[in-house]
Amino acid sequence: MLIVHTATELRRLLHPAREQKKTIGLVPTMGALHCGHLSLVRACREHCSITVVSIFVNPTQFNNPNDLRNYPRDLKHDCDMLLATGADIVFAPDEKEIYPKPDTRRFYFGQLETGMEGAHRPGHFNGVAQVVSRLFDIVQPAYACFGEKDFQQLAIIRALTEQTDRAPKIIACPIVREADGLAMSSRNTLLSTSQRAHAPLIAATLMQAQAKAKELTVNTLRQWVIDTINADRELEVEYAEIVHERTLQPIEQWREAARPRLCVAVYARPVRLIDNICLRVES
Ligand code: PAJ
Repeated sequence: MLIVHTATELRRLLHPAREQKKTIGLVPTMGALHCGHLSLVRACREHCSITVVSIFVNPTQFNNPNDLRNYPRDLKHDCDMLLATGADIVFAPDEKEIYPKPDTRRFYFGQLETGMEGAHRPGHFNGVAQVVSRLFDIVQPAYACFGEKDFQQLAIIRALTEQTDRAPKIIACPIVREADGLAMSSRNTLLSTSQRAHAPLIAATLMQAQAKAKELTVNTLRQWVIDTINADRELEVEYAEIVHERTLQPIEQWREAARPRLCVAVYARPVRLIDNICLRVES
């Protein structure tokens, strides 16, 4: 496995592989890797002969400076995990490499970005689109892997590829969870012992909601999710939305979507956790 820090080095390294028509895949990450990230690396290896993993804590997607400052970073440990998982190249650029000059591009994702994360983290998806489009330009992958953990991000990336020439095919990977159900996240390490003990209630509530979707209306179920999580003294719901799986618009009736998604953002202050689940209601 090779570790490179500049776009020039990376392009030079990928050039022969491109000449030989080898399939190049990209897994964009912000590091502090866990098994969720590694599942993306494995999926990438199944589709591609060269797997590039980028590690870059992208400042333009953070709307909260404390969140950016506190974001966990451990390149050495990340590289050990990537080596053990069979990644071929780690691209760990610094900020100047990705943004030689300030990125002033404005992306437009219409209704995909108006709700949920888009509503609560202004500018977040514009920053994600900036860095991901830049990474696509540098790596020019045939495939790129993203997790369903960030369900709205996945929809935004798909929309971005529709706006981009020579965009990669997107591979969507299911959410990887801890044994107690908590969705794996780099931010889980920031939870206090007590918060960590309470956090699995989020996933447990989503899973119960899946079963209850057969009995309750959309709005009753949504309110039940909010009340159940808020009843925990460590947790506070920021939003809980039941949305159409493609448009991400809130639905009113189950029949409006074949695979409605229940998406939540929950504070275990100051840490913010997100999770989601498919609420397929068989008719
Ligand atoms: P990061 O949070 O590091 O996540 C990198 C990728 O791993 C994303 O596609 C995310 O959805 C996926 N992922 C994270 N936790 C997961 C889990 N428990 N199960 C499955 N997949 C999981 O998302 C970002 O970074 C950034 O926004 C990025 C796309 C790299 C742009 O900066």
